[in-house]
Amino acid sequence: MSSSGIGKSSIGRKVIMALSGLFLLVFLVQHLIINLLSVLNPESFNTTSHFMGTNPVVQFVAQPVLIGGVLIHYFMGIILTIKNKKARPVSYISDNQSANSSWVSRNMIVTGIMIFLFLILHMGDFWIHEITVKFFGDKSWDVVGFIDGTEEFRYWEELHHTMANPIRVGVYSLAFLFLGLHLAHGFASTFQSVGFRDGRFTPALEKFGKGYSVVVPLLFTMIAWCHYFNWYL
Ligand code: HEM
Repeated sequence: MSSSGIGKSSIGRKVIMALSGLFLLVFLVQHLIINLLSVLNPESFNTTSHFMGTNPVVQFVAQPVLIGGVLIHYFMGIILTIKNKKARPVSYISDNQSANSSWVSRNMIVTGIMIFLFLILHMGDFWIHEITVKFFGDKSWDVVGFIDGTEEFRYWEELHHTMANPIRVGVYSLAFLFLGLHLAHGFASTFQSVGFRDGRFTPALEKFGKGYSVVVPLLFTMIAWCHYFNWYL
């Protein structure tokens, strides 16, 4: 360990990375469940979205915590990548890198940046939109004319409208592929960092991690496609 303080040691940084990652994994599941409703039960999707969009605890506690979690995860990820590069300044010219580690494990920063770019697009699609409508009364975004009177019914229409764009659906699908790759290695290293590597539950946790990294991105992709192709209940 280089110096005292959890964020300053290499193990400390990995633990912070793992814990913020675990927190984001929980966020992702709740986000997936709400978005699945947009395909399975549009009315419940509207009710839930309206609740999430107007509840003060969600708005002023959960959202800042989420933003904090994302920032910590990215900040630590960049620091870890720089430190790892410094620890191994000579590139493996004579070494067969792919025999030692997978492309994904060596390029977490690349898949992380792809997800970051997706998040910028995604925040522009939904979050900025929410803020301008809610706090600044901007009606130019009102794609379906729902903002006056039937405000709480607009969420499904807006999501559906966004997913009508094939380029958007293509970019989202590609981003979910990167998300799957990032999650697959993220899970493996999280277990290592928080000490679950050789325990009794390791095989089950590894299976869960692999399942999560395939099923969650796949379901997000399905949601985008279902809206594009009008496959919903
Ligand atoms: C087809 C897939 C997805 C759909 C349809 C979708 C839809 C939405 C919607 C409608 C919102 C706005 C919520 C609000 O009213 O504030 C939102 C926010 C957000 N989404 Fe997604 N999302 C998808 C995938 C993802 C993925 C894969 C991630 C992360 C990698 C993600 C991260 C976020 C974040 C961080 C927010 C802002 C926080 C929040 O408002 O809850 N989304 N998304």
